[in-house]
Amino acid sequence: MTKSPMLEDAYALRTPQDSVKLYADWAGSYDSDFAAANDYQLPRLVAEHYVRAGGQAPVLDVGAGTGLCGEELKRLGMSDIDATDISQDMLDVAADKSVYRRLFTGDLTQRLDAQDNTYAGIVSSGTFTTGHVGPEAFDELLRVTRPGGLLAISINAKHYQAAGFEAKLKALSGAITDLTLPQERFYGPDANGEHKNDKGVIALFRKS
Ligand SMILES: C[S@@+](CC[C@H](N)C(=O)[O-])C[C@H]1O[C@@H](n2cnc3c(N)ncnc32)[C@H](O)[C@@H]1O
Repeated sequence: MTKSPMLEDAYALRTPQDSVKLYADWAGSYDSDFAAANDYQLPRLVAEHYVRAGGQAPVLDVGAGTGLCGEELKRLGMSDIDATDISQDMLDVAADKSVYRRLFTGDLTQRLDAQDNTYAGIVSSGTFTTGHVGPEAFDELLRVTRPGGLLAISINAKHYQAAGFEAKLKALSGAITDLTLPQERFYGPDANGEHKNDKGVIALFRKS
């Protein structure tokens, strides 16, 4: 049952403050009513791409939500995983899972509470999507990443075209290397409903 009222609302968000409101209501049921009910595969796929491409710790999960991607990284043997999200309510659910070393609220369209060159890598699952965060946030992600660090960022296919990700990655060509854009389906075979075939890329690249 990929048709979830909350999912429809999430795609219709306009501002960071809209996200804070919606995810405050959604945090308590997100893992069961959305992720499990819809066979949501994206956090696992992002974590697997990150590790397979040689991603190291410390790693920052941006738009971490309830911590599904962090859980997958931990399952793959990683530690020193930090989390940031605009929604304190989502981070409160993530904190209960004891996956993350540090959790802090932050708006990806603004400056994050982290020093330059802090992280060996960044992961993000489901946050670079319609109504959420656009390519302008890449500059801030690169600021907090160490030179040579790896980024694994899922981008919804419709958002990729509409929000100018291709142009942004081109503009960053002097600042990043090793860009690949593997395509993935976001939900598994048990999903149904309007979004069951949603797909996109996992942008994998390194900071120069
Ligand atoms: C669809 S959820 C994905 C959560 C988790 N990564 C996953 O895959 O389950 C999107 C997350 O992005 C966060 N978000 C939305 N806008 C944001 C912004 N401007 N800065 C930081 N986080 C944001 C929301 O609070 C929410 O937790």
